[in-house]
Amino acid sequence: MNSSSSNTLILLADEAQTAALAARFASAMKGLRKEIVEGGLNLRLTGDLGAGKTTFTRALLRGLGVAGRVRSPTFELVEEYDVLEGCVFYHFDFYRFEDPCEFEEAGFRDLFGPGRITACEWSAKAGAYLPGADLEMTLGIEGGARRAALCASTALGARILGEVC
Ligand SMILES: Nc1ncnc2c1ncn2[C@@H]1O[C@H](COP(=O)(O)OP(=O)(O)OP(=O)(O)O)[C@@H](O)[C@H]1O
Ligand SMILES: [Mg+2]
Repeated sequence: MNSSSSNTLILLADEAQTAALAARFASAMKGLRKEIVEGGLNLRLTGDLGAGKTTFTRALLRGLGVAGRVRSPTFELVEEYDVLEGCVFYHFDFYRFEDPCEFEEAGFRDLFGPGRITACEWSAKAGAYLPGADLEMTLGIEGGARRAALCASTALGARILGEVC
């Protein structure tokens, strides 16, 4: 599914609903473990400061069984977690990049691929260096609520979208 994409809008009335959506993502990803091991999974989280990108990712990691501290990658740029028995989850935040080439210089390209789940905040800051996403979630702020626009760009992304919505 390269030429077409599927889109869904979801209203997240409060933080609990954001966490519930993340939990549904986690269970869909568990069911697609084989596909993730074979091809990897790339997620993009878009939205203004405070939109809920890290809040969503933290709940997603909890749903995937991560019990320890989940830190925002704002300063370290990437945080790494072992998930789904043999997969690695990389939570990126490129906000501090001054130039997209920092993505290449940091060697981050090597962290994408089979068995890897990536969740990228501020993906535009990595520009064209960033590998394509299977699924992008754009969060809009509406007071305490968030409007999530989900866009799948691959067959794997569409399968996840089909299960969470
Ligand atoms: N419906 C909601 N979903 C998610 N977060 C919410 C919601 N309502 C309020 N919040 C609050 O919004 C804030 C979101 O912060 P968070 O760090 O997740 O944003 P972010 O998108 O990662 O920002 P940044 O671009 O700075 O990394 C938190 O303080 C959270 O409690
Ligand atoms: Mg964040």
